[in-house]
Amino acid sequence: MSELPDRNLALELVRVTEAAALASARWMGRGDKNAADQAAVDAMRLVLGEVAMDGVVVIGEGEKDEAPMLYNGERLGRAVQPKVDIAVDPIDGTRLTAEGGNGALSVVAIAERGTMYNPQHLVYMDKIVAGPACCYAIDIDAPPAENLKNIARALKRDVNDLTVMILNRPRHAALIAAVREAGARIRLITDGDVAGAISTAMPDSGIDVLMGVGGSPEAVITAAALKCLGGEIQCKPWPRDEGERQKAIDLGIDLNKVLATNDLVQSDNVFFAATGITSGELLRGVRYFGGGATTHSMIMRSRSGTLRMITATHRLDKLMRYSGVNYG
Ligand code: FBP
Repeated sequence: MSELPDRNLALELVRVTEAAALASARWMGRGDKNAADQAAVDAMRLVLGEVAMDGVVVIGEGEKDEAPMLYNGERLGRAVQPKVDIAVDPIDGTRLTAEGGNGALSVVAIAERGTMYNPQHLVYMDKIVAGPACCYAIDIDAPPAENLKNIARALKRDVNDLTVMILNRPRHAALIAAVREAGARIRLITDGDVAGAISTAMPDSGIDVLMGVGGSPEAVITAAALKCLGGEIQCKPWPRDEGERQKAIDLGIDLNKVLATNDLVQSDNVFFAATGITSGELLRGVRYFGGGATTHSMIMRSRSGTLRMITATHRLDKLMRYSGVNYG
């Protein structure tokens, strides 16, 4: 029995990330992280609100009191169906945007209601992410050398043929030393572990595995992307201090439990869109021409496994006549 083609929400979500990228890219290199973020949030909120769905923001910009826009628990969409969870990162790489660095992007993911993991107050997760060929080769509880040996075997390569992506942070000194000791190559990045994590699942990206501590929201967003692309993320909460650790224990969170892709996003009906703000290896950034701009996006759906790369030309001179989004 064949079904009629059903709705692919990702085709609508790409308008959301395009709008956020177009609005925030005006702030590239202007040294103002907050203005860039605000522009992305405003645009994203406006366009997401017009999508025909009943959405709840599960992964947003923090609690209502800290973030007036796209806060956790906010309802978005203009229909009563489908009922969905929403994960947003209006800019992954706010500092990259403010400094004109490589690889900032705007991301939205949607899954069936009640299926996205809520990291609550936990800001960070320790993560390991690898592509489809290495799903069974990674183990967050194993030392880096063992993971690298198993990944190399899965890819039929030597450890010194592997490239590991790691956020360049003092907290990763021991990890970096261990990876070097094992003999693998390292790509240190200043920010943007969503793009880095997705790269591990993209053929020919040159990135084999991402390791280290990064944002918890980014872990859930990564899981949504991997549901579509294949590949695996494993992570564990990484409390910053004793207060965060104790709060997690009081809330009944098991800090030793490994959270894998299916724990972070349980649904098998996931939609994902990302648009480049500044150019990186995954996506080209926004480029302006007189009266308009081009964007480069990836959109995906887990059920079909379709990945579309979309280049769009936007006539900002026309859009500005009627759109509520401030394209600058
Ligand atoms: P934002 O742009 O949302 O600030 O996130 C950038 C980022 O580099 C993420 O990609 C990463 O998960 C996180 O920050 C790491 O946190 P920190 O900069 O505190 O180490």
